[in-house]
Amino acid sequence: MVISMKVLTVFNHAGGAGKTSITREIGYEMSTQGLRVLLIDLDPQANLTSWLGISGVKAEETVRGVAVDGAALPTPREVYGLSVIPSHVSLALVEGLMMGRVGAHMRLRRALQEAQDRYDLVLIDSPPSLGQLSILGAMAADQMIVPVPTRQKGLDALPGLSEAFQEYQAVKPGLTVAIYVPTLYDARRLHDREVLADLQANLKPLAHAIPQREAVWLDSTTAGQPVGVYAPGSPVHQDVRRLSADVARAVGLPYPQAAQSGVDA
Ligand SMILES: Nc1ncnc2c1ncn2[C@@H]1O[C@H](COP(=O)(O)OP(=O)(O)OP(=O)(O)O)[C@@H](O)[C@H]1O
Ligand SMILES: [Mg+2]
Repeated sequence: MVISMKVLTVFNHAGGAGKTSITREIGYEMSTQGLRVLLIDLDPQANLTSWLGISGVKAEETVRGVAVDGAALPTPREVYGLSVIPSHVSLALVEGLMMGRVGAHMRLRRALQEAQDRYDLVLIDSPPSLGQLSILGAMAADQMIVPVPTRQKGLDALPGLSEAFQEYQAVKPGLTVAIYVPTLYDARRLHDREVLADLQANLKPLAHAIPQREAVWLDSTTAGQPVGVYAPGSPVHQDVRRLSADVARAVGLPYPQAAQSGVDA
């Protein structure tokens, strides 16, 4: 099956929404289906980088050269069958260097276009802000994946998100949300059930909610391994597989059960 490269940016300016977790897991699951996957860590916190067990990153391995000088993509690290452009805390300084440079926000998009024969899927993990790096990731995207915690905090972020999307769409018409993903869902709490009902009424397409489950999510970050490697077949891995099917269906990628995911995509 010939697939033209898709670029998906996982986006929410609210912190702790599940962006990095989703990027790592969908990336790994799609790679197990034979897709050539590139992950890009745009967050100076570098969680995606360390949660994949990558250390000793040099600034030249990050998107710095792309964003500041319009350079080509750096050579990625290769882990668990994934190609990864890692992050480093110095990426925080890139925001300042991008400001006042006309066209800087389109540079990642351009660099990816030059690499389109090498990858089937590019997943970009954004930082928790609406700053320059988030815009860089948004402008590079064909579509967005938007995780929303099933908490008041999740609802509070929605007006800001919709304002940001309108601004981005003015520059890049056709940029859409592929799927919203309810995250950190605790079905025992009335609050979470009420927020989920609100999301179901207002956001489309919406993935199945990802339950909040502590141990495997946290321990897999310490281990630096995707859940499919750290705890294959575990309940968290089943959640991850269902999410991957929902996303695959929404964006038209091959993944088992994607056709029956039941999401109104
Ligand atoms: N379903 C889940 N159940 C329990 N913990 C989870 C779940 N999903 C993610 N986590 C944990 O919640 C925390 C926040 O998730 P994550 O870092 O992926 O969010 P983020 O949106 O990338 O955060 P930031 O805005 O800081 O970049 C992490 O410690 C992660 O391991
Ligand atoms: Mg993150």
